[in-house]
Amino acid sequence: MKRSILILVVVLGFSISVMGWSWFPQQKASQPETMPLVPMMQQLLEDIQEVDRGIYTENFAMIEEGAGNISDHPTMTPEDKKLVKQTLGKEIQQFVKFDMVVHHHADSMRMAAVEENMQKVLKHYRITQQGCVDCHSNYREPISTARVEQ
Ligand code: HEC
Repeated sequence: MKRSILILVVVLGFSISVMGWSWFPQQKASQPETMPLVPMMQQLLEDIQEVDRGIYTENFAMIEEGAGNISDHPTMTPEDKKLVKQTLGKEIQQFVKFDMVVHHHADSMRMAAVEENMQKVLKHYRITQQGCVDCHSNYREPISTARVEQ
């Protein structure tokens, strides 16, 4: 009698842990909701490098993960938002537009990776990359300078 209870407990415990695995098979540490701008940018660089590696090794899962992390990237901390607003004034509208381009096309790139469509991945990759660089050409220098002078 006691033995059968023991077996029951072991079997139950085992199946619960197996269920846990299959219900949350790829649960990753999610990104924080806000992040200071510079570390966030360094993270974006790592994410786009992961996408690059995925493109050249034809590893669509890698592209999907990197692109997904770019499109879901954390927002700036309130302090950084304030700094950007003060530095750019009305120009912040254009800043936000570049950010939207990156969010939107990184997500399209992620979906193209799910479809394993490399041409579509590249199409959205180029637009994403253009978005990163457009924002930098216009705003990186003034924001970086304002941060140093803070
Ligand atoms: C909406 C504007 C914007 C977009 C879009 C943007 N960045 Fe940036 N990025 C900045 C600004 C502003 C800085 C400078 C921050 C500072 O020095 O205070 C920066 C700096 C950087 C840096 C240098 C960080 C350091 O160590 O000083 C890297 C790397 C970077 N961005 C990568 C990326 C990548 C990759 C993307 C696209 C996936 C991207 N950024 C998209 C605004 C943007």
